[in-house]
Amino acid sequence: MMGKWLVNGRESQSIGVDDRGLAYGDGLFETIAVRGGHCRFFPEHLQRLLDGCERLRIPPPDQAVLQSEAAGLAKDCDHGALKIIVTRGAGPRAYAAPSKPRPLRVLGLEHTEPASAEDVQLGVRVRYCEMPISRNPALAGLKTLNRLEQVLARSEWANPDIREGLMLDDRHSVTCGTMTNLFMVSDNVLKTPLLTEAGVTGIMRNKIIQQALSSGIETRELIISTDDVANASEVFLSNALIGIWPIREIDGTDYARGPVTLKIMQALRAIGVQECKV
Ligand SMILES: Cc1ncc(COP(=O)(O)O)c(C=O)c1O
Repeated sequence: MMGKWLVNGRESQSIGVDDRGLAYGDGLFETIAVRGGHCRFFPEHLQRLLDGCERLRIPPPDQAVLQSEAAGLAKDCDHGALKIIVTRGAGPRAYAAPSKPRPLRVLGLEHTEPASAEDVQLGVRVRYCEMPISRNPALAGLKTLNRLEQVLARSEWANPDIREGLMLDDRHSVTCGTMTNLFMVSDNVLKTPLLTEAGVTGIMRNKIIQQALSSGIETRELIISTDDVANASEVFLSNALIGIWPIREIDGTDYARGPVTLKIMQALRAIGVQECKV
């Protein structure tokens, strides 16, 4: 499936069967867009990974080592996705973490095709998922290896014309897509779900919030209901690989790609997200 992998710095395709990332999802990951031989927004991805290590009390990988391994993998790749996985490493049977963990560091590069211009220009079709997303402030925001909810949500549809599924928490608040963050516009205000109890604080989400603020677009993080989404004038999705996908339909409700979305796409393009062709 993937091209080249480095496991603790050595070219390999395997990890130990006693790794806690495999056994318990005890670790974190990053998925980074590689464009023109460079890892886009690498410092931001590195920072989220280090923050995650701190919150999970996993000894952080050496930054210079990560940087040089990532750069080495990316350098000959024009268009790809670089994955970094950090786990707490090997451990004896049972949940108790080793007192002196020796984290595992895995990097892998996959070459990818540029995004479909249609998805960006016409927008994508999306549905609501039945699989709820759990609320847990201790894990909220982190890109942990625990992705079973997303895996099950993604298994709810097979139609390739549906690009993404939206996930609700137990209070029916719209939290995110299976692999994306959600934004909506109403009353000319850009709104995105508050991610203090669930979800991943996306690198692209942060860039969008920054660009919106510097473009003078009022922006709020708040609890969003399905009614709020139904009444929105614009809705879009983001992640590090796609940039922005405007949404053109959610379960039969149509949306147009509107002016706020276009303005943010232009701002993202100006900072190197070339997928955001308007
Ligand atoms: C569950 C989830 N939420 C949000 C995102 C977006 O995060 P980022 O912008 O860092 O890609 C992802 C990315 O894969 C994700 O899996």
